[in-house]
Amino acid sequence: MDDKVFRRIFSNLPVIETERLVLKKIAPENLYDMYDYACLSETSRYLLWSPHLNLDETKGHIAFLQKQYRKGLCGEWGVNLKNGVFIGTVGFAQIDRFNNKAEIGYVLSPKYRKQGLMREAVNAVFELGFRSLGLNRIEARILVGNEASERLATAVGMSFEGVLRNSIVVKGEYKSYKLYSILAKEYLEAKGPAVWDR
Ligand SMILES: CC(C)(COP(=O)(O)OP(=O)(O)OC[C@H]1O[C@@H](n2cnc3c(N)ncnc32)[C@H](O)[C@@H]1OP(=O)(O)O)[C@@H](O)C(=O)NCCC(=O)NCCS
Repeated sequence: MDDKVFRRIFSNLPVIETERLVLKKIAPENLYDMYDYACLSETSRYLLWSPHLNLDETKGHIAFLQKQYRKGLCGEWGVNLKNGVFIGTVGFAQIDRFNNKAEIGYVLSPKYRKQGLMREAVNAVFELGFRSLGLNRIEARILVGNEASERLATAVGMSFEGVLRNSIVVKGEYKSYKLYSILAKEYLEAKGPAVWDR
């Protein structure tokens, strides 16, 4: 991965516009909308974190993200409807620069599911990941049982690679996860040249 490109993108995460969404840095003004879904147990059922117990917890998380943005270490976007409502997050949960790959993560408020909104957001992150960052591989680690996330991974072109049994401790228990991935050549072949190259 080109160091200059990495620094340019991560030092000021770009705003990305899609048909129905605006992806941009998560900000203190998103506090109430984020808490609205982060406090629900159904949101984090298959995630590493537990439901937020109060607004201060969400505020602390947003403050942490602000610090990471300033250090150029955060690849997480807020997902907003065009009318400004903040409905979730999407981005790179991890970047492995040596191996030129990243892990994607996403969370959508239950109020906005089943409309294909996260598919749209993930596609935008793939576009940036493969075309601008030049990643070779993007993967998703999906806890066994998270069928909505598996459907999303499949819908955006990721392939199932296998199950890593009892691979991580989540909330005090060993959990197995499914590994999904998509390679740059698969994505680029499926999507064709970038709009500006056509
Ligand atoms: C994973 C998660 C983001 C999926 O949300 P979602 O709304 O089902 O995902 P999408 O935005 O891709 O929507 C797709 C669904 O909308 C429907 N849909 C409706 N209109 C659509 C459209 N115009 N385009 C595409 N899909 C559309 C699809 O049929 C699909 O339903 P299906 O899953 O039954 O096939 C959501 O369940 C979530 O936030 N879960 C909690 C956090 C989590 O577990 N994250 C994953 C960690 S690995």
